[in-house]
Amino acid sequence: MDGLDLLSLCKINFETMFSDVFALVYLSTSLVAFDKARINELAQHASEKNKRLKISGYLCFKDGLFFQYLEGNQGNVVGLMDQIEKDSRHEVLNLIHIGNIKERKFRGWDMRYLEDGELKNMQLEDMFKWIITSMKTEIMAYESLKENIQKMIQQIVLLRRKKLIS
Ligand SMILES: Cc1cc2nc3c(=O)[nH]c(=O)nc-3n(C[C@H](O)[C@H](O)[C@H](O)COP(=O)(O)O)c2cc1C
Repeated sequence: MDGLDLLSLCKINFETMFSDVFALVYLSTSLVAFDKARINELAQHASEKNKRLKISGYLCFKDGLFFQYLEGNQGNVVGLMDQIEKDSRHEVLNLIHIGNIKERKFRGWDMRYLEDGELKNMQLEDMFKWIITSMKTEIMAYESLKENIQKMIQQIVLLRRKKLIS
């Protein structure tokens, strides 16, 4: 193991032992037209900035709605979320604090844009649609909604672990 590997390992263990990993999700509606190029541009900029802030997560976009999962240092995540909320290209409809989690779930995904087809391939399309509807209409109790979102997140983690998505 070279020095750099050892350093990375120490960083991972430090984060695991003294976890201050905080996660949130939100649903927003786009206020401007987003085509593929515009989304890719947004995801690219987000990815670069998130890398600097050590924030990981993913972004989905379907039928004019964004769903984003963010995790990292609480101050950084909340600070970024404040900025995202002020972005005039969309309007946040529902923001859910998952809270402190034991460890980062999406290490390496600075901001992964999960395309529609990928959700379909992961057989998560129905679950995703149902979560989005629940977040939009707020018909489900907050805690149950949070639980279901966590299940979906865990499902993506498992698929990633099995290398069915990278
Ligand atoms: C749906 C949506 C998701 C976004 N997600 C991120 C993100 O994960 N990270 C990020 O830095 N900016 C994200 N942005 C952009 C921010 O709102 C903001 O424009 C950007 O952080 C400003 O970057 P700057 O400080 O380099 O000017 C997102 C914007 C939208 C509309």
